[in-house]
Amino acid sequence: MEKFYITTAIAYASGKPHIGNTYEIVLADAIARYKRLKGFDVYFQTGTDEHGEKIEEKAKANGQTPQEFVDNISREIKRIWDVMNTSYDKFVRTTDEHHKKIVQQIFQKLYDQGDIYLDQYEGSYCTPCESFWTENQLVDGKCPDCGREVKKRSEESYFFRMSKYQDRLIEYIESHPEFIQPEARKNEMINNFLKPGLQDLCVSRTSFDWGVRVPFNDKHIVYVWIDALSNYITNIGYDIVGGNENFQKWWPADLHLVGKDIIRFHTIYWPILLMALDLPLPKQVFGHPWLLMNNDKMSKSKGNIMYADDLVSIFGVDAIRYYLLHEIPFQSDGTISYELIIERINSDLANVLGNLVNRTISMAKKYFEGKIENKNILEEVDSSYIEIVNSLEERVEKRMMKLEIGAALDEIFDTLRASNKYIDDTMPWSLAKEETKKERLETVLYNLLESIRVCAVFLKPFLPDTSEEIFRQLQIQDSSFTFNQDHKYCVMDPTPIFMRIDSSKKLAEIAANKED
Ligand code: MSP
Repeated sequence: MEKFYITTAIAYASGKPHIGNTYEIVLADAIARYKRLKGFDVYFQTGTDEHGEKIEEKAKANGQTPQEFVDNISREIKRIWDVMNTSYDKFVRTTDEHHKKIVQQIFQKLYDQGDIYLDQYEGSYCTPCESFWTENQLVDGKCPDCGREVKKRSEESYFFRMSKYQDRLIEYIESHPEFIQPEARKNEMINNFLKPGLQDLCVSRTSFDWGVRVPFNDKHIVYVWIDALSNYITNIGYDIVGGNENFQKWWPADLHLVGKDIIRFHTIYWPILLMALDLPLPKQVFGHPWLLMNNDKMSKSKGNIMYADDLVSIFGVDAIRYYLLHEIPFQSDGTISYELIIERINSDLANVLGNLVNRTISMAKKYFEGKIENKNILEEVDSSYIEIVNSLEERVEKRMMKLEIGAALDEIFDTLRASNKYIDDTMPWSLAKEETKKERLETVLYNLLESIRVCAVFLKPFLPDTSEEIFRQLQIQDSSFTFNQDHKYCVMDPTPIFMRIDSSKKLAEIAANKED
C-alpha cells in the first residue's frame, strides 16, 4: 500500500485557537480522509508548539507555570480539533520528553559537524514572532511579519550556516516544481529570500528559560523554530544515527500543510536543516491562504474573533467544515461571517443536498415502501446522467491532486445538482399516476438512490457525519466509486439532514445570545 504522511503546522499553545487557526486542521483532515478513501496508508500528524518567550510571558501573566499553562492550552486545542471531527493519528507536543531529547541530539550533531557556531548577535527582536531582524528588514521600524514593535537586543548566540546550503536549495526548488505550492509562493521564496542571499540564522536564545536547552551550553535555549520544525521527524522515530523502521517508512513527509505566513520557515529553514542532517526533503509544502473576518485579520484586540466550538454548536460540525473547505479559495484569502455561513447552508447543504436526499427517500417510501431494485427501464436522459455520476471519481481526483478542495466539493455538488435536475426531467410524481409506468418509476428512483450513494462516498472526507447519515438512511454499505446496477435498496424513513435556516431569525438569536 502506498504511504502518505501529512502534517499540519503545530499550533502555538499561547491561547484558544480561533476559526482561522482551525481551518488548517480541517483542510488536512479532508486530504487525509480522502487519501484513506483512495486506499493509501495514511499517517496524519498535528499538535502544539509549546516553547518560547511569548508563552513564558503569558503563563506568568496568568499566574501559572509555563508547563501548567501549556498543558491547559494544548488540551483546549486538541478538544477543538476533536470538535471539528478531525482524524489525526498523532497529536504531538514539543514539551514531550522524547521530542526534547531528539532536538538536543540534532543541535549537538549540527554543532559537532560545524554547521552551528557561537557568535555575538545585535539586532531588533520581535517577541511575538520570536524572530531577529536586521535594520533593513524592518518595515517602518517594525516587525516585517506582524507589524508590531521590536526591541533592540544584543546577546551571545549560536548561528546556523544557512548560506552554505543556499545554492543547493535553490537548485532543489527549481528542479522540483511540485515542492512549493501554489506556484506563486515558490517564486516569492526564490525572488524575495533566496536570490538576495541568506544570512546565517540565529538559533539560540539566552533571554528566557522556557524551551529546550542547548546540550553543551545550558545558558542557551534552542530557537523555537528549530524545536518546532523538528516535530515532523522526532515523533516518527528519527534519531541521529538514522532513525528506526517507522522513520524509514514514513519519511520524507508527503505533504506539509502550512499557512502562508510560515511558508518561509518550511521552505528555507526546514529544508536546509534537513540537508544538514543528510535527510531527504518533504515532497511538498503547501502554503494555504488565510481566513479573514470581513477582510480583516482576526484578533482579540479587534474583537472580531469567531471560535470553532461556538460555530459548531450553532450550525453543526459538517456545516462549518463545508464552509471552511468550500469558501476559502485555493490561493487567495477567504472571509467568514454568520450571514455568509447561513447563505451557504441554505444554498448548498439544504437546497441541493438535503432536499435531494429527502425527496428521493420520501418517494421511495411513498411509492414502494422503501424497497427499490433496478428495473432497467431506461430512457435517453438516463445515460448522460449515469455518465455524470461515473465521471465523479476522476473529476474529484483531478481537483484533489492539486489540493483544490473547494473545487472538489463543487464537483460533488454539481453531481447532486444533476440529480435534482434529473428529478425535474423525469417527474416521478407524474409517473406514479400511471400503473404502466411503475417499472420506469422504480428505475428512476433506483438511479437516484445509487447516484446519492456514489456522492455520499465522495462526501466522506469532507462531511463525514453527513455521509454516514446518508448511508444509514439508504441502509447500504457499498463504498465503491461508480454506479452499481444490482443493489437491492430498502431505505429507512427519511430524516432531514440539512434544513433551511431563517436568516434574520437566526442572526437575531445569535445577537441575543452574545448579549447574555
Ligand atoms: N507554531 C507555529 C508553527 C510551527 S510549525 C513547525 C505557528 N503557530 S500558529 O498557531 O500561529 O499558526 C498555526 C497555523 O495556523 C499556521 O499554519 C498559520 O498560518 C495558520 N493560521 C493562523 N491564522 C490563520 C487564519 N486566520 N486563517 C488560516 N490559517 C491561519 O505558526
